Amino acid sequence: MGGKLLPAAASPRLSRVATSGAHGEDSPYFAGWRAYDDDPYDAVANPGGVIQMGLAENQVSFDLLEGFLKAHPEAASWAGAGAGADPGVASFRDNALFQDYHGLKTFRKAMADFMGKIRGGKASFDPDRIVLTAGATAANELLTFILANPGDALLIPTPYYPGFDRDLRWRTGVNIVPVHCDSSNGFQVTAASLESAYAQATASGTRVAGVLLTNPSNPLGTTVQRSALEDVLDFVSRKDIHLISDEIYSGSVFASPGLVSVAELVESRRAQNAHGIAERVHIVYSLSKDLGLPGFRVGVVYSYNDAVVTAARRMSSFTLVSSQTQRTLAAMLSDAAFVADYLRTNRGRLKERHEHMVAGLARAGVPCLQGNAGLFVWMDMRRMLGHGDQGAATVEDELRLWELMLREVKLNISPGSSCHCSEPGWFRVCFANMSLDTLDVALARMSRFMDRWSKPPTARQGQLALDE
Ligand SMILES: Cc1ncc(COP(=O)(O)O)c(C=O)c1O
Repeated sequence: MGGKLLPAAASPRLSRVATSGAHGEDSPYFAGWRAYDDDPYDAVANPGGVIQMGLAENQVSFDLLEGFLKAHPEAASWAGAGAGADPGVASFRDNALFQDYHGLKTFRKAMADFMGKIRGGKASFDPDRIVLTAGATAANELLTFILANPGDALLIPTPYYPGFDRDLRWRTGVNIVPVHCDSSNGFQVTAASLESAYAQATASGTRVAGVLLTNPSNPLGTTVQRSALEDVLDFVSRKDIHLISDEIYSGSVFASPGLVSVAELVESRRAQNAHGIAERVHIVYSLSKDLGLPGFRVGVVYSYNDAVVTAARRMSSFTLVSSQTQRTLAAMLSDAAFVADYLRTNRGRLKERHEHMVAGLARAGVPCLQGNAGLFVWMDMRRMLGHGDQGAATVEDELRLWELMLREVKLNISPGSSCHCSEPGWFRVCFANMSLDTLDVALARMSRFMDRWSKPPTARQGQLALDE
């Protein structure tokens, strides 16, 4: 107290990682989130606010999770039996004391079973290969640290989840080389597109460490076809590199064709004695989407490679899941009847939401890529970029349209360019992070925006009314 204030000094230097722009958070994907934060829609308090359609969150099945907690209060309380302890807080100490990085055996077993159930029993998972992490974000970064050195590259089919720019590149110093996919085949990855990205990387002297596939895809809302997956496995085998399969939406496939997980292909190739496949395959999973629990931070690295499991387990010390969370979720996921009902009901609700969304957009005159999974649709607004014979539409045209929608009808959606899509005019629109009423308000706004757009420019003057 009473000491003199020191003269302001120039800020001391920060590390290259801290000051690098590789986190990618200056993209419109995150700018749209900020626009929502500044002026969030609320049916009563702020009916003219921004509706957040850029957040892949699943809120449609909370009642089921809450129903489980009501029926099993012991799963989330400290009560229980314990020698000499107060029964009201008997399990508190067990949770509070040191946990090693292996995670609770009961939880790893429950996660392994759950991952098998999601895949309809077509693949099984060994609890001893499950490494727990704080979400898929940490799982993807951790695998990148293990499989690649700074300066190496991962090949990623486009369009891809914008968070990968941060998760895979920022702290690891690893590069992403896009594998360009397009609408001619529903954006499925091909052997030719993989070869071309690989050749481009190696021509510039970059070593390719692996391919990262997202199946089902965010942002497409589609599963990867079996033949494409077989091609990817052949490719990584031919090049002697790794495959990370981010299957965070694997429990959210609600229409045919169903999911073909890489786990299923690994098992069938193993049965045919195909050597050298399993050891290069690593699966990422999390409860953020299928269970709608991004706040709980529960992710998984599942690898068929012993050395990767060992390294991942050691590295998971930096990003453990709290014992309390593991304990609650172990109880939930070990309840076979609850899990079966949850998976069936959640899928049914996502399917209904998806159909509602697609029908509403169709009425507004906006087509979508046919989807079968996830929490979003991939909306095709290419015809609105309006170039006609003046040349190809550009990313700038796409971003102008994105801004117009944000400004005029206060809808935050994600422009395809933020997902590195190579065709301007596609947008990802989420449908499970809001009530059905709010979704209807959003669809009405979209419809008004499209009506106005279809009029000649002189008739587009004035402010659109937002309150319904
Ligand atoms: C494909 C994909 N991977 C990883 C993540 C990160 O998930 P988590 O919340 O488990 O870190 C997301 C979240 O949107 C995602 O879509």
